[in-house]
Amino acid sequence: LETFFGPKPLAGKRAIVTGGPTHEPIDPVRYIGNRSSGKLGNAIATALADLGAEVHLVTGPTNQPDPVGVRVTHIETTREMLAAVEGALPADILICNAAVADWRPATEAGQKLKKQAGGMPPALALQENPDILATLSRHAQRPALVVGFAAETENVIEHATSKLSRKGCDWILANDVSPERGVFGGDSTTIHLITQDGHEDWPTLPKGDVGRRLASRITDHFAQRSQS
Ligand code: CTP
Ligand code: CA
Repeated sequence: LETFFGPKPLAGKRAIVTGGPTHEPIDPVRYIGNRSSGKLGNAIATALADLGAEVHLVTGPTNQPDPVGVRVTHIETTREMLAAVEGALPADILICNAAVADWRPATEAGQKLKKQAGGMPPALALQENPDILATLSRHAQRPALVVGFAAETENVIEHATSKLSRKGCDWILANDVSPERGVFGGDSTTIHLITQDGHEDWPTLPKGDVGRRLASRITDHFAQRSQS
């Protein structure tokens, strides 16, 4: 009920959220992917919509139902994700939560690759994918607030802080994915919010709460901007 009748401080704001994995085809039946569940991207999209934002979620293949009250575009590859995000501009807020495949097969075989009798396995040549977060951070129509994620297994704050300046985004939500702390696909995660001013350490929270906390931080950010 709170979500229907609660305050809508993000009314009039447009947000784009990327979520899920990307799939990069090897041949018609195989792909390179990763274990992203899509749960956090969906939770963020939902939380922003609940506060009144007009949300467009661009998501790779997941087993999650589409969030309610959000426009959803389904894509498979990183290049399709980039095109869909650019197609969703202009926006005030961009949250790049997707676990994008860093590399794709340099060529996609037109037919299923077959084993050769007594032969060698095929060599897979890879090519780097475009960086959606870095591209949008330097885009002519750059959203006012660009937020990235960083999944790290060691030196979490240090690596995420250097990612912030390398990508040119405003905030990074770093999560510790070392085997002791959390795993892809889990229901909770431990976030450190990195900004130009330093870092804020959040307790381990269910992903729904991470989405709501981020949406409320974003609300505060725009409220402060409109006062100054
Ligand atoms: N990202 C992106 N496009 C890519 C790769 C990453 O938009 N081709 C975004 C992710 O959605 C995330 C952020 O960049 O918000 C950081 O992703 P991450 O994988 O941690 O950073 P990389 O630059 O790919 O560095 P590495 O994987 O080597 O740590
Ligand atoms: Ca990466």
